[in-house]
Amino acid sequence: MKMKTLKGSVAVVTGAGSGIGRALAQELASQGAELALADLNSAALEETRSLLSGTRAKTYTLDVADAAAVEGFARKVEQDFGRVSVLINNAGVALYGNFDELTLKEFDWLFRINFWGVVHGCKSFLPLLKREPEAHIVNISSVFGLIAPAGQTAYGASKFAVRGFTQALKGELESTGVSMTCVHPGGIRTNIAANARAGVNTRPEGWEERQQRFLKAARTSPEKAAQTIVRGILRNKARVLIGGDAYFFEALQRLFPVRCSPMIASWFNRQVAPPAQEPAGMKEKERSA
Ligand SMILES: NC(=O)c1ccc[n+]([C@@H]2O[C@H](COP(=O)([O-])OP(=O)(O)OC[C@H]3O[C@@H](n4cnc5c(N)ncnc54)[C@H](O)[C@@H]3O)[C@@H](O)[C@H]2O)c1
Repeated sequence: MKMKTLKGSVAVVTGAGSGIGRALAQELASQGAELALADLNSAALEETRSLLSGTRAKTYTLDVADAAAVEGFARKVEQDFGRVSVLINNAGVALYGNFDELTLKEFDWLFRINFWGVVHGCKSFLPLLKREPEAHIVNISSVFGLIAPAGQTAYGASKFAVRGFTQALKGELESTGVSMTCVHPGGIRTNIAANARAGVNTRPEGWEERQQRFLKAARTSPEKAAQTIVRGILRNKARVLIGGDAYFFEALQRLFPVRCSPMIASWFNRQVAPPAQEPAGMKEKERSA
């Protein structure tokens, strides 16, 4: 069932401390939604809240990878707001390195956030969403949930998994008031590259250069991305692509289902990941964590 308005809705956004999540908080607030905002980074979350005026917004420090913590978060939001009508599973991370350079622990770290974080959110909030006459879940996948270039084994697999999970769950919810949208952004100018980890055995070039290249290649602003996502909710779109690059990659994938991956890998690596010059790897404390 289509949500006619977001005015008076209660919206949960994970990863609201930065980028698309922060812009979503601002866009939803401008549409009259009340907000339950979550992020691992509480300082960033408070910064997001300080940008919202005249909106009821509560913040929750949360690791979406932790199933019990997400369940506790859902119960706390239920206590604080009494109901939830929109859930946006947005929190996500990136990891640099080819598969043979990554440890299973690093692969698992990304998967627990990008995929399991989405599953945890849906599991814990679905009972609340089902109580509403109209409700909506948005899961943020990626253009790398449509095509997976070399160098993106963990990220691509997690975002394909989000897409498959969303498609199947959407089918199961057909007879309820809960609708679903899977979002596939192309490059969005956020902190995702700056916040990314490199595998302990990965030898990427300097972080700063990588970030600059990402920001140059990413054409869409987080504000534009947030507007497109909110429009997708109000139009009850099953799938939302964001940015000309996302549409281009999708068309390439349809035209060249096999050859598109090396084509896109070579484009992406030229833009964002030129050959390694110096060892980087995870920070020491993360390596031993
Ligand atoms: N920026 C892009 O080009 C792009 C493209 C496609 C998809 N996406 C997806 O969009 C989503 C948002 O990314 P963004 O670009 O705004 O990145 P970002 O790094 O700017 O923001 C991500 C936020 O998620 C939070 N976060 C990270 N791990 C968390 C955890 N375990 N629990 C709770 N919060 C956590 C971070 O603290 C941060 O505030 C991600 O799922 C990402 O994969 C981004």
